[in-house]
Amino acid sequence: MKSARPLLISFEGIDGSGKSTQCKMLYHELIDRGFAVHLYREPGGTRISEKIRNILLDRENMEMSPVTEMLLYFASRNQLISEKVVPALKKGEIVLLDRFVDSTIAYQGYGRNLSLESIQKVADVAIGTVIPDLTILVDTPLETAEDRMEDRDLDRLEAENVEFKLRTKNGYLKLAEADSHRFLVLDGRDSIDSLKRTVLTRIDQLLDSSV
Ligand SMILES: Nc1ncnc2c1ncn2[C@@H]1O[C@H](COP(=O)(O)OP(=O)(O)OP(=O)(O)O)[C@@H](O)[C@H]1O
Ligand SMILES: [Mg+2]
Repeated sequence: MKSARPLLISFEGIDGSGKSTQCKMLYHELIDRGFAVHLYREPGGTRISEKIRNILLDRENMEMSPVTEMLLYFASRNQLISEKVVPALKKGEIVLLDRFVDSTIAYQGYGRNLSLESIQKVADVAIGTVIPDLTILVDTPLETAEDRMEDRDLDRLEAENVEFKLRTKNGYLKLAEADSHRFLVLDGRDSIDSLKRTVLTRIDQLLDSSV
């Protein structure tokens, strides 16, 4: 198994933007190259986190308050970090996350209008210093993303209104602008292959700088 320095890479974007497609391809590419790689989806990735995921995405839970929602995301995330992410990073492995903390800032902060300060306070407790080395934001227009989800049964957040989704999309762009070193922003309208090439170019730079 090849070793690099530990790397934490998150994928972000609105529902249907194309995140999972890209992170799965990157996962297989890195496995093929002989790296120790893990891919986790958020919320989820551990037994407990998957249970919290079910509560969060259940369309029966429409009365859930924004703060409860935010705390549950961080509860799920803390479990994932403690159980899986930190131990893997300690071994010098690569961890890919299909969503991470920026999702909570974009959805619960910008989308639900929760104060960014209160989210940051909970983030300090729940994730501490676990910050991605790279965050890949797949920025896809709402209509394109919705077309890509056409045949799917929507979960509780996917069923939200257009204004919520627009605030979330724009929130992501603000986060990327404020932290341009950490973010790679991709145009989600590009082809799957072209996006894959752009991602790999950036990953190769990261791997080269980590030898
Ligand atoms: N660049 C692309 N061009 C065209 N279609 C794409 C592109 N990327 C992904 N798709 C297709 O769009 C659909 C949604 O993609 P994907 O599941 O990767 O999105 P996602 O961001 O993970 O969505 P969710 O947040 O709901 O999990 C899939 O059917 C996928 O094949
Ligand atoms: Mg996905």
